[in-house]
Amino acid sequence: MSNSARIIAVANQKGGVGKTTTAINLAASFAAAETRALLVDCDPQSNSTGGLGFLRDPDRLSTYSVLMADCAAADAVQPTELENLSIIPAHKNLIGANLELVDAENREFRLRGTLDTLRADFDFIVLDCPPALDLLTLNALVAADSVLIPMQAEYFALEGVSELLDTIDRIRLALNPSLEIEGVVLTMYDDRTNLAQQVTAELKKFFGDKLFKTTIPRNVRLAEAPSYGKPALVYDARSRGAESYIKLAKEIMGRLSGARAAGKKTTEALMEAAVGASAEDAIEREMSPTREEEKQPQ
Ligand SMILES: Nc1ncnc2c1ncn2[C@@H]1O[C@H](COP(=O)(O)OP(=O)(O)OP(=O)(O)O)[C@@H](O)[C@H]1O
Ligand SMILES: [Mg+2]
Repeated sequence: MSNSARIIAVANQKGGVGKTTTAINLAASFAAAETRALLVDCDPQSNSTGGLGFLRDPDRLSTYSVLMADCAAADAVQPTELENLSIIPAHKNLIGANLELVDAENREFRLRGTLDTLRADFDFIVLDCPPALDLLTLNALVAADSVLIPMQAEYFALEGVSELLDTIDRIRLALNPSLEIEGVVLTMYDDRTNLAQQVTAELKKFFGDKLFKTTIPRNVRLAEAPSYGKPALVYDARSRGAESYIKLAKEIMGRLSGARAAGKKTTEALMEAAVGASAEDAIEREMSPTREEEKQPQ
């Protein structure tokens, strides 16, 4: 891939929409595609950290140390069980950064300055944001090249996201003019309900191409994997959940590198590294539901 990482913030101020699940599994899918991926846990809840099997250790270098300039970003990077996937872990002490940085100079640029020093070491840097439009999320959005918004297909989905879109606009004006919207991904999705289909049609009208084709189904493996400290593609590579995040990573990589770079090698690497021999069938199935599936009762 390129010699400068793309930094993607996974953000939505609404709680429980699948930010952490998306951040962990997207970063793991990039790693499985043989690109160098770094997950940065920007949430004091530290769910990405725990979900990758790291105990919550206040003495370990963490996102807090990095934000407070107590260490170089590179010193806080930890390898994970998955080759090509690293993490900067968090601890609940990160909540303090919100307060301690309030009066600091360039308080919105702390993360940007330090993550820029890692751009040469990675292809993708994924930031897991807290469920608030606070100084931590602001730092993530200022550091990022793009924001990826996980959403559930609910009736008031658009109302919920308008505040985030306003924030993104304001950040573009004042702090980070080149911030893009990477896309909107529907999580915990059940396309068999009328409601989901209606909401999807609305979102498609509103977001156009920014709505990812890939949707993430509700899948129990995705919910179980963090309790084993593993990304879904390590815990159960053939689960629909793991496959859907691999598809999402492919969709992002395909968009980024245009027709060619999404090409064969990457696709094959994804298949082999992550899901094994029968994956091609499974993903094929996933992408083109049979008539029968389409006609399941509502
Ligand atoms: N596709 C899915 N299928 C089943 N369960 C899911 C799925 N996505 C997320 N979950 C579960 O839903 C809950 C919320 O997900 P997650 O922690 O990823 O959301 P979040 O947006 O990061 O939450 P917070 O706002 O608290 O940080 C978790 O228990 C998670 O395991
Ligand atoms: Mg979370």
